Amino acid sequence: MSVAACQKRRRQLMRMAGNDAIVVVPSAPERIRSRDTHFPYRQDSDLWYLTGFAEPDAVLVLVPGRVHGEALLFCRERDAEREAWDGPRVGPEGAVDALGVDDAYPIDDLDEILPGLLEGRTRVYYHFGRDTEFDLQLIGWLNRVRAQVRLGAQPPHEFLELGHLLDEMRLIKTADELKLMRRAAKISVEAHAAATCAARPGVREYELQAELEYVFRRHDAVPAYESIVGAGANACVLHYRANAAQARDGDLVLIDAGAEYRGYAADITRTFPVNGRFTAAQRALHEVVEAAQQAALSKAQPGRPYEAGHHAAVEALTEGLLRLGLLKGRLETCIADGSYKRYYPHKTGHWLGLDVHDVGDYRIEGESRLLEPGMVYTIEPGLYVPADDTSVDAKWRGIGIRTEDDVLITRAGHEVLTAGLARTADEIEAFMAQAR
Ligand code: GLY
Ligand code: MN
Ligand code: MN
Repeated sequence: MSVAACQKRRRQLMRMAGNDAIVVVPSAPERIRSRDTHFPYRQDSDLWYLTGFAEPDAVLVLVPGRVHGEALLFCRERDAEREAWDGPRVGPEGAVDALGVDDAYPIDDLDEILPGLLEGRTRVYYHFGRDTEFDLQLIGWLNRVRAQVRLGAQPPHEFLELGHLLDEMRLIKTADELKLMRRAAKISVEAHAAATCAARPGVREYELQAELEYVFRRHDAVPAYESIVGAGANACVLHYRANAAQARDGDLVLIDAGAEYRGYAADITRTFPVNGRFTAAQRALHEVVEAAQQAALSKAQPGRPYEAGHHAAVEALTEGLLRLGLLKGRLETCIADGSYKRYYPHKTGHWLGLDVHDVGDYRIEGESRLLEPGMVYTIEPGLYVPADDTSVDAKWRGIGIRTEDDVLITRAGHEVLTAGLARTADEIEAFMAQAR
């Protein structure tokens, strides 16, 4: 995240906001786990995108057109004693150089300075509802300006969702961002490969999680979300997190895990047989999911509606379920009445970026938005047959499969960022055979 790239983003955001606006972007709050122990700190994605500043207790204020400086950062002051405990701080003196902002002030001065910055501005761009404590502070500063109206003060009177402007910027990834996303994808591919190699009957789900996360950390990455490692029917629990069961011979293992590198997420799922060989039933369902992923991928083209991928995946999955006898009836009916949802209850993907479920509208004025170069999203079809589903042959029960890759839309079509990892049943078996 270079200083120049962040400056450019701030300038673009200010241009869109206009000279009568003010933009307020606070850091993520620290969360206490117990007493003086905190949950791992993760900067707010918007503030990170606009500054690359990782410290808590900070606020970026953009005041477009302000003669004495447009980009202002409020942050923690240097403090030798605190820094001896918690590590170094940039401090207001260091922030101007380190982040390329026009001016920086101690966070404790925010209360005194912010009302003056709000005064005379028409519109406030801010993310209301993300941090209710900060919402209340902001209302307090606005009220202080309002209290001065009889003295000629002009309080802002329009309050707008910052995401209207910023989410659209974040949705289209720049070359700088794509470098980091490719790196996150590469680390995640290596991590999945390592976990697949470590699989053997009797392994515990957490042992495979350890293999994954060892690779993440070795490359200065962290999990972008809690890793999901589900053996057997645990694969059917979409947000499974216990990761404690033992994989028995003959089980499939579903791993949904991705690295976060410099703030950017990857999101990969693979499902493989713990003993290296798919059963006929497992393979049949895996191949249906493969076909669905290919169908969705063929719609990953600029100018195509985002939702075309989901529709193509649903059609391929439903067609497969009918062919294998898990569903009965006509294809069009099973799609129209949603009976496929019994085995495929989720959507086929989501935007990917600084957040694993990244920002950006999926629909515009009621219609699916069209794909554009620079958009990155996941394609993740799956099939999940509950272990207690007596409406199907016993051989299908308890099988859960998902295959998930990260796709960048390019001018020519698309690029699969996570392409380096065995995907089809044949590729997975071949990869596992050579790893043994
Ligand atoms: N790992 C979360 C998801 O696949 O959406
Ligand atoms: Mn996903
Ligand atoms: Mn995932």
